[in-house]
Amino acid sequence: MTRISTLFRRTKTTRRSPSAAVGLAAAMAASLCCVGVAGTAGAAAAHKVAKAPGNATKGTITWWANPITTGTPDPRKVLLKAFERKYPHIHVKMESAPTDTTTDRATLTTQIGGGAGPTVYMGTVTWPAQFGAHEFAVPLSKYEPKSYFKTFAKGLVTGATYKGKVLAAPFYTTQGLLYYRKDLLAADHLPVPKTWSQLASESKEMQAKGQVKYGFVFQAADYEGATCDFMEYLADAGGKVTNKKYTKSELASGKAAVKALTTMDSFVKDGISPQAESTYKEATSMAAFKSGTAAFLRNWPYAYNTSQGTGSKVVGKVGVAPLPTFSKAKYPGYSVIGGWDLFVNPHSKNIAADLTFIKFMTSPAAQKTLATTFSEIPTLTKVQKTKTVKSKNPVLAVVSKTKLITRPAGTPNYAAVSKALYQNVSAAMAGQESTKTAISKASTGVNSALSSSGL
Ligand code: GLC
Repeated sequence: MTRISTLFRRTKTTRRSPSAAVGLAAAMAASLCCVGVAGTAGAAAAHKVAKAPGNATKGTITWWANPITTGTPDPRKVLLKAFERKYPHIHVKMESAPTDTTTDRATLTTQIGGGAGPTVYMGTVTWPAQFGAHEFAVPLSKYEPKSYFKTFAKGLVTGATYKGKVLAAPFYTTQGLLYYRKDLLAADHLPVPKTWSQLASESKEMQAKGQVKYGFVFQAADYEGATCDFMEYLADAGGKVTNKKYTKSELASGKAAVKALTTMDSFVKDGISPQAESTYKEATSMAAFKSGTAAFLRNWPYAYNTSQGTGSKVVGKVGVAPLPTFSKAKYPGYSVIGGWDLFVNPHSKNIAADLTFIKFMTSPAAQKTLATTFSEIPTLTKVQKTKTVKSKNPVLAVVSKTKLITRPAGTPNYAAVSKALYQNVSAAMAGQESTKTAISKASTGVNSALSSSGL
């Protein structure tokens, strides 16, 4: 506890030094302008390479990793098998992290804050500022040379940087995408929807014909996923969550936030989405789409592969496209950038082996496996551009057309900011409050989150 409260105090003094946002090339131009690049003064010093660059061949690691997909085979096991073949004397014990990012972060921060936890962990792209401020990650730039970080696609390392220190290695990157039933659209002579209202009317048509029970499934449960979905509508409507300095909420200024939430809510009110949509996470929405119950799905890249895997009723029937937008906005709609990085716990006793592991997981071979077997977006520029990788991963063709938006994660208080969003988004969609009230409460919540100092 002592350690945690000390860390909390430290956060308060550092919260106005935003780290750079996370993003792929297209997003970075926009996102860097808005959140500012993390302090660069320390960057040169941080790049002095210390002793353990990741060439260890012995040791024990515990790897905290969420399941990555909801399909089979398990990507973690596939990658681990390859690692163990190459490094037979490094013993890796995998700890399965919760699938829900909010629960994952809460569990992990409790462990690390208590002086324990796994040695290497997967953490999402919104964590670096917070984990950096609380010293929950070993700066990798202390050990790895600049040449290592240069192998990653533009923006990803900047997103993993806090105050000039690179805290994590980009493992795979994600973004919100629209999955659709290409067989049904073809049968009904319908185009891939470019606007939310088109998606709604096409849904109603397919529902009326009895082709599907629901039109559209997405993520609106009381957790991080609802923040991601809401951010996409908010950006389409021209709104923002906070000002550039992360000192105040912008949700209540203008009509964008209410428009965004009202649109999400209308899918439930109009029967296009299930009544229980406010309890839907990635796995729930994936299951509905995979079983043929819904015509459209908003989900991450892994969803393509999962929709074509074991137990799917929609094999060969799925298309992927950028997200729609509002009628008067420019197509495509915004896609939230997500993805997962690999971090080292400061309590690790074997950083050398941890680094060997991280270097393996970010090697071209591992990245190719993630891209071609699991339809993830690889983080290495070289692999992203490889023809054979592109031909095996239909998501990559869409990625070049999407418009990206980051979550407001440049503040160490992001977790609390996000909570203010997802709690109220989900409550409105559960019918517990009007969309207007929900946005006003979210705005108040974001303001208090920005001045808080907790995890
Ligand atoms: C996906 C994204 C991650 C996000 C999470 C929300 O795993 O990659 O960035 O936080 O979904 O549910």
